[in-house]
Order: sequence, then structure tokens, then C-alpha cells
Amino acid sequence: MKNFKLVFFYIKKYKLQFILGFFCLIVCDGLQMIIPKVIQHSIDGVLLPGFRSIDLVKYGLLIILLAIVIAIFRFLWRIFIIGNARIIERDIRNDFYAHLQKLSARFFQNHKTGDIMAHATNDMNAIRMLIALGIVIGVDIIVYSAASLFFMINIDFRLTMFVIIPLPLLTFIIIYFGKIIHKRFRKVQDSFSSLTEKVQETISGIRVIKSFAQEDSSQRRVSKASYDYVEKNISLVKVWGLFFPALVFIIGISIGLTLIIGGRKTILNEISFGEFVAFNSYLAMLVWPMIAIGWVTNLYQRGSASMKRINNILYAKADIIDRDCVNYNIYELNGSIEFRHLNFNYEENEPKVMKDVSFSVSQGETLAIVGRTGAGKTSIINLLTRKFDPPENTVFIDGYDIFEIPLQVLRNDISIVPQDIFLFSDTVKENIKFAKQNATDEEIFAFAKAAQIYDEVMDFKDQFDSIIGEKGVSLSGGQKQRIAIARALLADPKILILDDALSSVDTETEKKILTNLIKLRKNKTTIMIAHRISTLQHADKIIVIDEGKIIEQGNHQQLLKNNGLYANIYKKQQIEEHLVA
Ligand code: CTP
Ligand code: MG
Repeated sequence: MKNFKLVFFYIKKYKLQFILGFFCLIVCDGLQMIIPKVIQHSIDGVLLPGFRSIDLVKYGLLIILLAIVIAIFRFLWRIFIIGNARIIERDIRNDFYAHLQKLSARFFQNHKTGDIMAHATNDMNAIRMLIALGIVIGVDIIVYSAASLFFMINIDFRLTMFVIIPLPLLTFIIIYFGKIIHKRFRKVQDSFSSLTEKVQETISGIRVIKSFAQEDSSQRRVSKASYDYVEKNISLVKVWGLFFPALVFIIGISIGLTLIIGGRKTILNEISFGEFVAFNSYLAMLVWPMIAIGWVTNLYQRGSASMKRINNILYAKADIIDRDCVNYNIYELNGSIEFRHLNFNYEENEPKVMKDVSFSVSQGETLAIVGRTGAGKTSIINLLTRKFDPPENTVFIDGYDIFEIPLQVLRNDISIVPQDIFLFSDTVKENIKFAKQNATDEEIFAFAKAAQIYDEVMDFKDQFDSIIGEKGVSLSGGQKQRIAIARALLADPKILILDDALSSVDTETEKKILTNLIKLRKNKTTIMIAHRISTLQHADKIIVIDEGKIIEQGNHQQLLKNNGLYANIYKKQQIEEHLVA
């Protein structure tokens, strides 16, 4: 039950609606239980001498009236209870999502996206079902079984005792089959998602498949998944096929017993004909709670497993947070940066990826970082932006330890064009104005021009309103990079970081972008990472990093004179350029 702390919190939040729903449900159930009684009296009435047909009309009208009132209350409880369960599901999902946003890059490194998606969909679903149906079925079980038994015993005690003997079996059957059905259903779902994944892969990867002439093998893969899906479904259908007959069989035993024993009692006039009919109706009503107990047990097991998984995430500590030492009097950054003897590894037992790294950048300067792949360039950025937390007293901005700066300020005043660019499947315009929602079209166009993407976007059918992604235009790597650059420039941050952001842009375009960049970033701090030295030579300061260590720093001229790794890479690239030209 302690898993459900959160659920109770929400139920309390919507207490009034639940109480109203509860009330309507009890009225609804209660009235339902009266109907067989009315039928009993009307039948016994008909059989009595001196019966007038007007009485029958009265009974008929009473049943219609009851049906209407029941319908109204049923409508109300559904709105109150089922509607509220949906609202709670939404609340939990919102909280879940808000919490996810606070979790660190490390968390996402350790959890699969697919699993998190499943928590946000399947698990939420299971919890909603439990809240809604759990309450309804709980009430039903109590009212139905208490009232049915009461009326049945009232009609004939011994008859009741005989016919209810088989009923508890129903509960066991439901629990037993429910588990198997659930297990097999999960397999069907898994198989379905692997089938869709395969189909999606073959469609989106169709060019690769064709170019390697792998049509047959990819066809085989899909059809294998397809067969598997059928197999899993058939195994599920088999259980359903046994389940229903088993239910009907047990219910049938009870009905048979009623007919034999009850029928005899009716003939012997121990109970009236009307009572016999009413008894049958109550028996039918008693079947439901027996089924419901099994059902609710399964719902509970599923719901609490889901709740546990969601709690695991909700109570996962948000580790990238403002610490106690944060200084909320810092409202913005100026843009000077310093790293002091920074050592860092991503996981405790892994080797260091930063070894005694020290450097500084004054406000307004451009810093370039060069180094072989895997040297630790992106890691420097990860630590500066607190994607991962560095040790205290190693990273400083404007002279403050990075943990004194509120995260909000850090996020607002630093923009980054990351190495792995992510664009939303939205319009080009929305993607560019992502960090500055109130940007005007003029601004958007101006920065698109600065990033050298304007002309290409104007060639798209819907221009800046073209949707990016699967349903819209597919962009080249270079186009994506330039849209991301426009986005970052538009935000006009105090510190701008370009992590290999020009790697897919040709040298000609690159030159133009760099010229604009230098103009736009005058007096503002910019960090550029690149493999091509032509991208970086204008920088005020260049650091060369190798295996997590800074091995050289200075400006372009100084580093060339140094004749170290930098000069070496530069010469190689010059030769390459000549060869290409
Ligand atoms: N690394 C890691 N966990 C991460 C990111 C990086 O363990 N979440 C490791 C990498 O395996 C690598 C080292 O940290 O050994 C440095 O990685 P990175 O800073 O990303 O290297 P870059 O210099 O940015 O390499 P590239 O030029 O390929 O982008
Ligand atoms: Mg990198």
C-alpha cells in the first residue's frame, strides 16, 4: 500500500468529486437491487385472484422509473469517478514529466527511452484503471453481494446455501486465468512493438537496404516478426477460449442447482413463483461480485507493480539542482570562464576523462578547443553547462563557483549548438524561435540569414512554415546544423557554445557563417569546438586537448610556432585541402 502514497494524495485532492461519485454509485447499486423485488411482487400479484391489470401497469411504470433514475446516477458516477481517474492520471503524468526534466544526463544514460515511454503510457494506464475500476468494483462487490445474499436468504436460507457453494470458484478462476492472460497479453504487446520497430526500420532504412541489395533478408526479418506476432496472439486466444467456458460452466452449476432445488420448492409451495424468479435474478447478480473480486485482484497487482516502477523514477534524486550555496542575487552572467585543476570521470570506477584541466576565458573572448576524437572536448562543455556536475571549486563563471549560480541563470545565459542536434518535428520557424518564443519574423529571418540557411528554407514549399522531420522536409546534416545555429544566435546568449557545429558545412559557407558570427558575438563569450583548424584560427585563445589533458594553449600564431600537435594537425589539413582543390 505504501506504493500508493502518491495516489492517495491525488484522491484527497479531488475528495469532493470522489465522495459524490461514491454516493451516486451506492444509490445506483441499491436501486438495481430493488428491481427483482418489484418483479417478484408483480408476478405473485398476477397469480392472485382479483388481480387488476391496472396493478400490472403500476409495476411496469415503477420499473421504468427505476431504470431512469439508475441511468441518471450511473451517468453521474461515471463522470465523477472515471473522469476523476483520468484527471489523476494526467496529474501523475505531468508530475512524472516535470520530474524527468530535472533528472541528469546520467539518469538518461542509464535508462532506456523505450522503458521511460512505457512508464508514461502503460503504467499510467494501469494506475488509472485501478483507481477508477478499483473504487467502482469495490463498492459493487460490497453492495451486490450483501444485498443479493440478504434477499436470497430472505427468500430461502437453505436454497441460498446450496447454490452459492460453487461461486467462490469463480474468483479463483479469474485470478488464475487473469495472470496467464496478462502474461500472454504482454508477450503479444512486446511482439507487436518489435514488429512495428522492424517495419519502421525497413521503411526508414529502405535506401540502405536497397543499396546493399538486402531486400530478401529484410523481408525475412519482417515476416519472422509477423509470424511471431500471430503465434503470440494464438496463444492468448487459447486462454480466452478456456476462460469463458470455465466461467459459464460454474455459473451453470449454480443455475442448475437453483432450478432443481428451487423449482421443487416452488412446486411444493415452499416459496412463491415470484420469489423463485426473484431468487434467480439475485443469483445472477451475485455472480458479478465473485467475478469482480478476481478482476480487482489482478488490477491491484498490475497497478501496484506499475506504481512501484513510477515511484522508482519519481523518487530518483534529481541530482542536477541548485545546491545550498546557490546565490539567488546572481541574475545574469557576464561571460568570463575559468577551469581550475579540474579532474573528472563519468562513473566512479572509470578512468578520468579530465586530468588537471586549467584554462580561462575573459568576457567577450572566443575560445577554441581542438583535439582528436574522444579527447574530452564535449566533456568540457558538459561540465561548464552542468549537464554533468564537476567537483566543487573547479569551474568558475564570472569568478563565482558554478554552484553559486542559479541553474535557471546558467540555462538562460548559455546557449549551445550540440554535436548531436535535435530538432522538433515542428516548423522551421518554431524550431528557430525555440529559445525566444516572442521573436518576430524579422529577427528569425535575420538570424537565419546569419546562419546561411535563409535561402535554402525559402526554397522549401512552405518556406519557414515547413514541417521538419518524418512528415515534412528531410534536412541534410548541414541544414540541421545551420538551423540549430540560427536558433542559438537568436537567443543571443552571454555564452555561446558551438560543439562541432560546422562539421557538415562546406568551407565556403563556413567562412560566411564565421564572418557573421564574429560580428554578432563581438564582446560576447563564444566557445567553438571543431576538427578543422580553418574554423578556429580567428579565436583569441585555442586550447589543444589530448586524452583529457591540455597539452598546448595560445593563439593560432603561437601554436604554430610551438610546432606541437596543433601545428601537426594544421599542416595535415592544409595538405588535404590542396589535394581536394
Ligand atoms: N564519455 C563517457 N560518458 C559520457 C560522455 C563521454 O564516458 N556521457 C567518455 C568518452 O567515452 C570519451 C571521453 O569521455 O572517452 C571524452 O569524450 P568526449 O568529451 O565526448 O570527446 P570529444 O573530444 O568531444 O570527442 P568527439 O570529437 O568525438 O566529439
Ligand atoms: Mg564531442
